[in-house]
Amino acid sequence: MWGGRFTGGTAPLVERYTCSVDVDSRIYAQDIAGSKAHAAMLARQGIISAEDLAAIDRGLTLIQAEIEAGTFLWREDLEDVHMNIENRLTEIVGAPGQKLHTGRSRNDQVALDFRLFVASCLDQWASSLCGLIQVLLGRAEAHQDTLLPGCTHFQPAQPVSLAQHILAYAQMFRRDHARVRDACKRVRVSPLGAAALAGTTHPLDPEQVKATLGLDDVFANSMDAVSDRDFVLEAVFCASIIMMHLSRLCEEIIIWANPRFGFVRLPDAYSTGSSIMPQKKNPDVAELMRGKTGRVYGDLTSLLTLMKGLPLTYNRDLQEDKEPFLDAHDTVLPSLDIMAGMMEELHFNQDRMREALKSGFLNATELADYLAAKGIPFRQAHHITGEAVAYAEGRGVGLEDLSLEELHRFSPDIGEDVYGVLDYANAVARRHIPGGTGPDSVQAQMASIAAWLQTN
Ligand code: ARG
Repeated sequence: MWGGRFTGGTAPLVERYTCSVDVDSRIYAQDIAGSKAHAAMLARQGIISAEDLAAIDRGLTLIQAEIEAGTFLWREDLEDVHMNIENRLTEIVGAPGQKLHTGRSRNDQVALDFRLFVASCLDQWASSLCGLIQVLLGRAEAHQDTLLPGCTHFQPAQPVSLAQHILAYAQMFRRDHARVRDACKRVRVSPLGAAALAGTTHPLDPEQVKATLGLDDVFANSMDAVSDRDFVLEAVFCASIIMMHLSRLCEEIIIWANPRFGFVRLPDAYSTGSSIMPQKKNPDVAELMRGKTGRVYGDLTSLLTLMKGLPLTYNRDLQEDKEPFLDAHDTVLPSLDIMAGMMEELHFNQDRMREALKSGFLNATELADYLAAKGIPFRQAHHITGEAVAYAEGRGVGLEDLSLEELHRFSPDIGEDVYGVLDYANAVARRHIPGGTGPDSVQAQMASIAAWLQTN
């Protein structure tokens, strides 16, 4: 394969060790698109003839069809996707195939291919994020009046609307979308023309290749262009955060599906039974997604570690960049789509949520704020309310169940109007602050997400 310089062949074990075809054959379409763009530019620059270009185009189109039909013979001895395709091209079209690599190295070639591939994956993540946000928005719209205990420290804290709880996740995924889009800008840069590391003496036009492939920019430094893998790291970092957000939502679903909570009933299509315990309905899908988050973090750690000791420029270590990325992609994309399906079909048990509001003194802050509004310094109001809570707890009732006489033991400033304040629905409704759980605020939030979805 290396022509004149070598007399002996590679040891069989080494051949298998260095071969990357099983992994990088997945970027065949990008390799072909990149080669076609390069050939078109070579012809425009007068480096190859129009006939050469026509032959190369024809051959590459045929190869793509062979690969897609499953008839392409991938050869381990040809090391990688690039050599396999180029070799087959020369088999099909002869001499013009041997001109394709003019002014190009596999170093800038693989960087281009992988950038194109990562960009297309990021587009898919962005679109699946939108799909999930759409589902969350729909569920939130239907549950503006459903109330449940909001928690801090996983202890009941204050009542919130289920819409607000769901929309918190929509906000996370919206940030993920912005992160993915931002990362895309740095992925969509063409390295072609950097050649092996130093650029080339052939009169190439990198701008043309960029334009043909619809990329946004061309490389600024040839040495950086062939050795930079920041774009892979950023993509897998985005995937890690997406998985972390999905995993948190999984955790809530798992807890809410526990009969002690009973806040949700899992859709049959997204849960499994037990082979021994007939009564069981397990949140396996959510658990597995939570578990798979770990492997994506592992992919990120692999890549960070891969890069940390590499001197300029291309080093063969870089061939190891594809597997972690592909693993992250193969994990994050179905996870997003499955979460969208699961959230679409999840049944929310409003009665259980309403019951849960009654324990845990979720309206204690309301009483403290009520007293503070009457002119009692908040710290004192906090103390008074604490005493009332302790008393009600002793009686085994809620604050709203105490009579006015009982409440007067703690403060003479409490009036009949306190019962309206202690009402859970009012506690939610009165939180008008933008971004708060009040219905008007939640509606404004939903309108903003809906408008955003229109343009994304
Ligand atoms: N298969 C290689 C990779 O993925 C392609 C580049 C090989 N370049 C080289 N100089 N050996 O990184």
